[in-house]
Amino acid sequence: MDVSEELRRLAEACGADLDCPGATQVVAGEGNPHARIVVVGEAPGEQEDREGRPFVGRAGQLLDRLLEEAGLAREAVWITNVVKCRPVLFEGDRMRNRPPKISEIRAWNACLHEELRLIDPQVLLGLGAVAGRALVGPNFKLQQERGQWRKDLVLGTDTLITWHPAYLLRQKGEAYEHRLGEAIADMKEASARLLALSLSPT
Ligand code: URA
Repeated sequence: MDVSEELRRLAEACGADLDCPGATQVVAGEGNPHARIVVVGEAPGEQEDREGRPFVGRAGQLLDRLLEEAGLAREAVWITNVVKCRPVLFEGDRMRNRPPKISEIRAWNACLHEELRLIDPQVLLGLGAVAGRALVGPNFKLQQERGQWRKDLVLGTDTLITWHPAYLLRQKGEAYEHRLGEAIADMKEASARLLALSLSPT
């Protein structure tokens, strides 16, 4: 079995044990399972739930652009989420996306850690506070710690957390330009770290 298939089965097995009311399917990670960098988002939204692929909606389009600006092709990296089924808010007969609950983040944690252990990347790039808390620890503070190198809790991998693209899309005018610039700089920093690690003899 190839590693992508193993990772998909892992996500589905985790999802089978968990409650995902309103979600139509588990959205496993995708990309290069041998990537040296893994991008970790929060949770699938409506379009991801429909297509069964992470980051394919508006936030995903912005993510692709940010990665490209940093010299990282989407196909070359592994893209995944902390929570792998769409968290949903029921409003009458309608459903809306909502942030994952702490209990959901905890429930999916073992799955994320196993996924990272199988890929064994050299760099982790987290998007937003949920990824920051899942990777770096529950006390992670995005506003203070964004763009700073940390180690992830389980493997001790070099980890950088930046703004989530969905958050960037909610910014307006100068705030948008400013935070977009920060996210691009963070991604370039992650890309440069990869290069530095591959040149280092150890
Ligand atoms: N936001 C996320 O965090 N993940 C996705 O897959 C899509 C949007």
